[in-house]
Amino acid sequence: MEVSQPTESRTPVSEIDFWSDEVVSNPYPYYDQLRDLGPAVWLARHECWAIVRHKELREALLASEAFTSTAGIGMNAEANKNSEGVMIFSDDPDHARLRRVFNRPLLPGALNALKDRLTGLAEQRVDQLVAKGAFDAIPELAQFLPLTVVTDLVGLTDEGKANMLRWAGGLFDALGPEGHPRTLSGIEIAIEAFTYLHNLPREALDPQGWAAGLFRAADAGDLSHDEARKMMMDYTGPALDTTINGLGNALSLFARHPEQWDRLRSDPELKNRAIEEALRLESPVRAFGRRLTRDYDMDGGAHMHRGDWALMVYASGNRDERRYEDPEKFDIARDARDHVAFGYGMHLCAGMHLAKLEIRTMLDVLVRRVKRFHLVEEEMVMHNLIRGRDRLILNVDPA
Ligand code: HEM
Repeated sequence: MEVSQPTESRTPVSEIDFWSDEVVSNPYPYYDQLRDLGPAVWLARHECWAIVRHKELREALLASEAFTSTAGIGMNAEANKNSEGVMIFSDDPDHARLRRVFNRPLLPGALNALKDRLTGLAEQRVDQLVAKGAFDAIPELAQFLPLTVVTDLVGLTDEGKANMLRWAGGLFDALGPEGHPRTLSGIEIAIEAFTYLHNLPREALDPQGWAAGLFRAADAGDLSHDEARKMMMDYTGPALDTTINGLGNALSLFARHPEQWDRLRSDPELKNRAIEEALRLESPVRAFGRRLTRDYDMDGGAHMHRGDWALMVYASGNRDERRYEDPEKFDIARDARDHVAFGYGMHLCAGMHLAKLEIRTMLDVLVRRVKRFHLVEEEMVMHNLIRGRDRLILNVDPA
């Protein structure tokens, strides 16, 4: 990425390759090193900042006039150019106007209406899996509600529904650094998704779906038809693999910490805390980018220049020992509600309540049906932005 002033003026500096396979597969020791260096660290190889400490990260996420999303939240020019006009790539006041429309199907009333359907489906699926005794929890369990229910709710055509998960993975990989093989293949997939949405006739959408709702809002004058079309991407990109990995990561944690599963089973009221804690410890989204609209200084070093790019490293802030005691410990009674796994400030995740509802529904059923998870094997997702598992083979003892 182009920077506006000589890079030597930026300290502290690290040579970490943020997107190498080594860092992607086990990022936490690297985040520890970065946090030791300062609240934000200049990544010399990538010519961008990594904001890594919890307090300064939250402050930066609130300072959206200094950290713009309109220039892009990806770390390469092509993905940022392709995504112009998408809500997550915008700033207030446009962003606030779009977000009011986007939120409508995700308000508590709309989500309450989903609860029974989600519970019925989850019960059926968990019963089948418990009867099998061993299964891959990613395709068979974690993907189940997002792929059965959320794809329906968005209301794309069959082609759209069938491709949504692959597109979601590509759209996020596309936000990686210029020229990286994962970024390049992500951009190819993202272009396929953008082309589909660009050419999708409005009449082909499910009239009850979220996407069709955007066009009705445009008819009512709440946004333009062009904005409605671009915002279909905000439903298509972030709605699936974020939640899938959120649940997959939580299941892996419970399999590795059976005493925490026993604790949840004996006190199911802890489930909300348990969900926040799992998202804190194994945050499904590593980082999104921002661009500096002005110089910005952080206490403890890090003098950022106008025009610089910065990564908001949510997954590092969530393990900041300055904020969380024993940050590497999985403790479901911990009050981790101020974690930044869903971001913070004006771009705070718009699908957060839906994601938590899906995860909570599955955990509610699992707590009643499963006495113990045994981890047989897991394989990490190799992805620029997502932290999670591609495979998670579990054996279960029925309750
Ligand atoms: C556990 C699951 C999820 C995680 C960890 C997650 C994470 C995030 C994060 C970190 C951001 C902040 C972006 C920024 O700072 O630029 C965000 C924003 C967003 N998320 Fe999620 N997300 C999840 C589920 C969902 C779901 C289910 C949906 C859709 C229904 C969704 C839609 C969005 C949208 C549209 C934004 C942009 C909001 C805005 O620009 O105002 N997310 N998410």
